[in-house]
Amino acid sequence: MSHEQWTAVDQYFNQLLVPPDDTLDGAIEANAAAGLPPIDVSPSQGKLLALLAQIRGARRILEIGTLGGYSTIWLARALPPGGHLITLEFNPKHAEVALANIAKAGLSELVELRVGAALDTLPELEAESVEPFDFIFIDADKRSNPEYVKWALRLSRPGTVIIVDNVVRFGAVIEAESSDPDVQGIRECIELLASEPRLDATAIQTVGSKGYDGFAIALVTG
Ligand code: SAH
Ligand code: DHB
Ligand code: MG
Repeated sequence: MSHEQWTAVDQYFNQLLVPPDDTLDGAIEANAAAGLPPIDVSPSQGKLLALLAQIRGARRILEIGTLGGYSTIWLARALPPGGHLITLEFNPKHAEVALANIAKAGLSELVELRVGAALDTLPELEAESVEPFDFIFIDADKRSNPEYVKWALRLSRPGTVIIVDNVVRFGAVIEAESSDPDVQGIRECIELLASEPRLDATAIQTVGSKGYDGFAIALVTG
């Protein structure tokens, strides 16, 4: 099994289920033109996020890690009228590109982008007593994932869905002795999902155009 084959199967599914979309494709092009790394979720993964948000009936979504707003656009489109999405991004250049992409998508009214390190902006959200989120997508620096899950819990309520991207990293997640802080962050995050009594979680390996990776999915139960 090869990356070429995974990509061909993604293309087969996408041509039927996730057809080309000028806004989303334009965002990917704008990201590339601005020199952003091509690490957005894939089209089928973006649609998975949107479907999960709709299945949840999410009215309030939090995203940690915006990049150029590709996943943001998928998620914001899943919101009902009057819904709200807050997305957190550290890099001002990424934020600028994302804001332009979100505006071109006609989603500026629904989306609020906060620039800064998420471990600074998350406490601000709590200090503002924002309403709990229904759906939280964690996709920033992987070494901070345990902290992000703890913050997600503080900003959630029973029924909130938490998704964590990139929990497999080509299999690196099982390297217990890894010196890579991102791998250790992913491992601690999974251990936290397992030990936290207010969460019920699983993790799923994925292959496709983005290679071999996976998502963790958690439900806030209490
Ligand atoms: N969710 C995006 C991809 C995000 S890539 C998509 O699928 O389209 C990860 C992003 O997290 C990058 O833009 C990076 O700048 C940002 N990031 C890294 N460290 C961060 C931090 N401490 N706080 C907030 N964002 C951070
Ligand atoms: C990287 C980050 C991501 O969020 C992703 O989905 C893929 C790769 C990275 O930092 O390499
Ligand atoms: Mg990711």
